[in-house]
Amino acid sequence: MTNLIDGRAIAEQIHAETAQRIAVLKVRGVQAGLAFVRVGEDPASRVYVGMKEKTSERLGIKSTTAVLPEATTQAELLALIAKLNADASVHGILVQAPLPAHIDQATIFSAVSPAKDVDGFHPVNVGKLMLGDTTGFIPCTPAGVHELLIRSGVKIAGAEVVVLGRGNIVGKPMTAILCQKAKHADATVTLCHSRTRDVAAHCRRADIIVAALGVAHFVKVDMVRPGAVVMDVGVNRIADPTAKNGSRLVGDVDFAAIQPIAGRITPNPGGVGPMTIAMLMQNTVRAAEAANQ
Ligand code: GUN
Repeated sequence: MTNLIDGRAIAEQIHAETAQRIAVLKVRGVQAGLAFVRVGEDPASRVYVGMKEKTSERLGIKSTTAVLPEATTQAELLALIAKLNADASVHGILVQAPLPAHIDQATIFSAVSPAKDVDGFHPVNVGKLMLGDTTGFIPCTPAGVHELLIRSGVKIAGAEVVVLGRGNIVGKPMTAILCQKAKHADATVTLCHSRTRDVAAHCRRADIIVAALGVAHFVKVDMVRPGAVVMDVGVNRIADPTAKNGSRLVGDVDFAAIQPIAGRITPNPGGVGPMTIAMLMQNTVRAAEAANQ
């Protein structure tokens, strides 16, 4: 049996469940709606928002995308968010990060109505996650990693987990999800970051490693206990003279060396990435259901 965790296949299972819920809403006369906001022309953001738009359409979610120029002021962006907050046809709002440097990201994320915050970045939703209050939205990437672990039958309760990276989008919420006193959680979580002494020693103790620090091939085979589960969140562009455009994307994990000794491992691409979109779509249908109870 392969030890690969097939994120594409599991994302498709979730998409099928979400499409079914969207269809049920449609029968009740509710069209689930998701608004994307992109500021500037960051190439990666264009690709990501494009993928999210396509998936929305495939599942029956009506999406709209506002593309604002790089020079957009914070006040203009806040005005657009206020309009979307007040628009009953919009159930979810996603402001794609990164934003231009003159705009304060935290102010923008705090301006999205918590009920429409399908990214799970609003302080109310961040707080609910910390408190174990399941009525909030959880950020899509760590929620996707969690769902991959659950649907792959990985035992989380009592496990030693090492999360690499303390970002607000993945590392911190991942830690909060897995240490919760709850079903499919109850792990002992160590959050390692750039000031951690001897990261390798922490990793070698881990039953589950979640790599989300954004350093290409950071996790080496001598850092992984044979049989451990390795989840690779990283998306790093590295030079590759043999590639058409001179570069390619790799994860935070030295996959080729680690796959033979891992218990389970996500490929990259095709592991965590597709799950981020699946959880976004799931959050959106939940927002639409909640708005129409
Ligand atoms: N940029 C990178 N990941 C994300 C995400 O999950 N949501 C948003 N809004 N921007 C991102």
